[in-house]
Amino acid sequence: MKAMNKLLIAMTAAAIAGGAVAKNKPEDANNLTWKEKYPEQYNSWATTKDDDELTDALAEDPNLVILWAGYGFSKDYNKPRGHYYALIDNIRTLRTGGPMTDTDGPMAASCWGCKTPDLMRMYDKVGEGEFSSKKWGAWGDEMGNVIGCADCHDAETGKAMPQRPFAMRAFAASGQKFEDQEENIQSAMACGQCHVEYYFDGTDSKKVKFPWNGGMGADEILAYYDALGFKDWTHKVSKAPMLKAQHPEWETWSSSMHAEMDVTCIDCHMPKVENASGKEFTKHNVGNAIDNFDATCSGCHDTKQELVDALAAQKHEVETAKLAAEDELVKAHFEAGEAWKAGATEAEMKAALQDIRHAQWRWDYSIASHGIHAHNPELAVETLGTAKENAIEARAKLKKVLAKHGVTKVTYPDYSTKAAAQAAIGLDKAKLDAEKKKFLEERVQKEWPVKVEF
Ligand code: HEC
Ligand code: HEC
Ligand code: HEC
Ligand code: HEC
Repeated sequence: MKAMNKLLIAMTAAAIAGGAVAKNKPEDANNLTWKEKYPEQYNSWATTKDDDELTDALAEDPNLVILWAGYGFSKDYNKPRGHYYALIDNIRTLRTGGPMTDTDGPMAASCWGCKTPDLMRMYDKVGEGEFSSKKWGAWGDEMGNVIGCADCHDAETGKAMPQRPFAMRAFAASGQKFEDQEENIQSAMACGQCHVEYYFDGTDSKKVKFPWNGGMGADEILAYYDALGFKDWTHKVSKAPMLKAQHPEWETWSSSMHAEMDVTCIDCHMPKVENASGKEFTKHNVGNAIDNFDATCSGCHDTKQELVDALAAQKHEVETAKLAAEDELVKAHFEAGEAWKAGATEAEMKAALQDIRHAQWRWDYSIASHGIHAHNPELAVETLGTAKENAIEARAKLKKVLAKHGVTKVTYPDYSTKAAAQAAIGLDKAKLDAEKKKFLEERVQKEWPVKVEF
């Protein structure tokens, strides 16, 4: 029955689309445009508002503050919640700062890249390059709609598919050309246009780019960035040239057991359900997949409890491997900092800093992918193991450098809480808070369509 469904949808979509990809109209960016025609989809989409829980990841694990010292994520980082909050959370996070004009602030415009269908509306209006070359603050007055219909649907054909041009380019460049995929993978690519690793390409107007030309694994992406000599930032303590992984859900799912069995993001997060009169539709609340046990998982798994237990065990295993890698990495950063203070030279430090870069990339690739314990725990645990090894290698090299400069013992500052860790890296949180408050009150609440409280 599932196969037949798929075939039917594929045939209809192919007939309507005729292969061409039509553009959405400006009014399609407004989610209300679609409400009347598709009430079930609209109403279940609107329930992404229900998952409003904010979890402060830095407070949960203060190691993160040290690992991201000198980069925005050490200021503020919450776990993901419902799609409804994408714009609010982006505007409120300390990472985007408090730009009072169109030309200041820490972030580039491409930060809007995975938050709103207004992105494509503006690409159509001013051009992708022109949009991307500006600062984040320049476009806030245009960003009014949260992740919605026009992010995942072609308005003319109705087909569920990615709408971001940079995602289509990346799928093609990595051998996953959209047009060559099965219908179910094409739909899942609608998630893959945002739930991926990306960077802003400084050689091309800071457009969004996925680093996939050599493959999507942790090693392939690392090789890509190394060959490019790309870094996201220089670590404040160790001075290592760092990479920040974003959220490689697509990449880590792709090599999973479920992907091999053709179970996609859509199967688990957007199952088919029935409305009151028995008509089938796709549930558009992309929240917790385990709630969809009956609709999806039960086809292959015996009981919900078994899966809940398996997920808890896998989460614990990933968490343990994560903390073990972090412990080595945090110390490596501090030891590198001490080596610089003791007078180490760039030549002496180079190899150890490269190990730190590689260790932290592998650590981040594994844990930045939310839900990794459900999607691909084996991959996470293995990659975290390599991350730990890389960090141990860095520390062995640093020990020699330190000894050469007469340092036999390094003492670490207190980083046992978020506040202590932020103080240890010299981060002035009160100042950042004040900037954000002024920005929200004097600019966002007065001039931007999404009103955000401090
Ligand atoms: C336009 C970009 C975009 C698209 C398309 C997208 N997501 Fe998301 N997703 C996000 C962002 C951004 C967040 C975090 C929102 C926040 O925390 O404010 C998120 C959060 C989530 C969460 C966490 C929700 C929760 O309640 O905790 C899940 C699960 C998720 N997405 C799954 C999916 C799936 C499955 C698809 C495809 C059907 C998808 N997303 C498509 C950007 C996107
Ligand atoms: C995160 C991506 C995403 C968003 C946002 C989204 N859709 Fe969908 N939509 C899908 C996917 C995936 C399917 C299922 C396609 C399939 O079965 O292959 C779908 C299916 C549909 C269908 C076909 C009938 C059905 O229920 O299966 C309609 C109609 C629809 N969506 C309307 C909407 C409307 C209206 C909105 C905005 C309120 C919306 N969608 C937002 C991804 C999305
Ligand atoms: C086999 C089913 C399955 C597939 C396939 C799947 N997921 Fe998940 N996903 C889950 C489960 C289960 C969880 C929640 C685990 C938990 O809460 O313990 C989850 C969690 C998530 C989260 C984190 C939510 C949070 O609040 O932390 C995101 C984001 C997400 N999935 C996106 C995706 C995307 C994007 C894809 C496709 C590339 C995908 N998932 C494929 C089952 C699946
Ligand atoms: C098409 C079949 C299929 C569907 C549907 C499916 N799974 Fe799986 N799942 C598998 C297979 C096969 C394995 C690997 C079992 C093994 O290695 O012993 C697996 C393994 C798992 C595991 C690892 C623990 C274990 O039992 O080995 C979890 C957790 C999991 N699935 C969650 C889910 C969730 C949650 C859903 C629904 C949202 C889901 N799966 C839907 C086929 C499926």
